[in-house]
Amino acid sequence: MLVSLKNVLQTASRRGYAVGAFNVNNLEMIQAVIAAAEAEHAPVILQTSEGAISYAGMEELGILVHLAANRTRLPVVFHLDHGKNEELVKEAIKSGLYTSVMYDGSAHPLEENIRRTKRIVALARPHGISVEAELGAIAGIEDFVSVTERNAHFTDPTQAARFVRETGCDALAIAIGTSHGAYKFHGASRLDFVRLEKIRGVVHVPLVLHGASGVPSAIKKQCLAFGCEIEEAKGVSDASIRKAVSLGICKVNIDTDLRIAFDAGVRKFLAEHPKVIDPREILKPAKELMTKVVQQKMKLLGCNEKG
Ligand code: G3H
Ligand code: 13P
Ligand code: ZN
Repeated sequence: MLVSLKNVLQTASRRGYAVGAFNVNNLEMIQAVIAAAEAEHAPVILQTSEGAISYAGMEELGILVHLAANRTRLPVVFHLDHGKNEELVKEAIKSGLYTSVMYDGSAHPLEENIRRTKRIVALARPHGISVEAELGAIAGIEDFVSVTERNAHFTDPTQAARFVRETGCDALAIAIGTSHGAYKFHGASRLDFVRLEKIRGVVHVPLVLHGASGVPSAIKKQCLAFGCEIEEAKGVSDASIRKAVSLGICKVNIDTDLRIAFDAGVRKFLAEHPKVIDPREILKPAKELMTKVVQQKMKLLGCNEKG
C-alpha cells in the first residue's frame, strides 16, 4: 500500500523507531527491498536518485515500485532522493508516481534554500505529497579540522528551526558528520550527537540521517575475497545508528550497503560459476544478499514488526 512519507514518519516518531530508506536502481533492488519488508513486516521507503532516474527512467522505476506496493498491505513510500534540479522535482510531483520528494537546496545560501524549498512545498502539498528538505552540508566529521569549520558546514539548530517554520517541509535532513559513499571514517565512527539533541529540541518535524550505511564487515569481507578493492571502506557503526535513532532520527538513508551487497553477490557467484551466463542465475545471490542486508537494517532501526 502506497503512503506518504509524513504518514510513515509521524508514526515512527511517536513510537520511537526509524524507517529505512533504500536507494533502488533496477528490478532486482526493488524486489530485494520489498522481500525484506515482507519478511520483517516493516514499513519501507524506496527512493530513486536523479542518477537512478537517468539510468533506468522515472516511469520504469515508478511502475515497478507501484506494482510491488499494490501487492502488499505494508506501508510503502516512493520517494525522490536528493532532487537538486527543481524541474525534475516538479516532474516527479506531476508524474503521480511519488508519494514524497526531497528537494535538496543545501548548496544554496539559507535564504535561497528557504525560497526554493517553499516553492516545492506549495506545489507538492495539494497532491498530498510529502517534502523532505536539507540544511547543512552532508560531509564527514573528519572533513573538517576545526570546530569553527565544522560549525560552518553542519546544520545549525537555530537556522534549522527557522528553516522548518518558514518552509513548512515535512522532514529535515541534517548534517551531523555522516557522508555519502563507502569511506566515511578513518578511525572510529563518530557523529555530533550534541548537535542532534539541540536540533531535536527545536525542530518539530521528523529528522533524516543521510550517509548512514554501515559497510557490514561480512559483506566487505566477501567483496575483498573476490577482488573488490575496498580495503579502506568504513561506515557508521550500529551503535551510532542506534544512538541517533534514540535521539530522534526517524528516516535513515541507505545506498552504499546495497551496492556492496550486490557487488559481493555477483563477484562470488561469477568466480565460483565461470560457465554460467544466465543473468537470472548471476543476479539471484546478489538479490538475496541485498535482502539480508535490508532485513538487518530494519531490525537495527526498530521498524521490524511495525508494518
Ligand atoms: O545520495 C546519494 C545516493 O547514494 C545516490 O547516489 O546519485 O549515484 O544514485 P547516485
Ligand atoms: P550511503 O552512501 O551511506 O548509503 O548514503 C545514502 C544516502 O544518503 C542516499 O541519500
Ligand atoms: Zn543522501
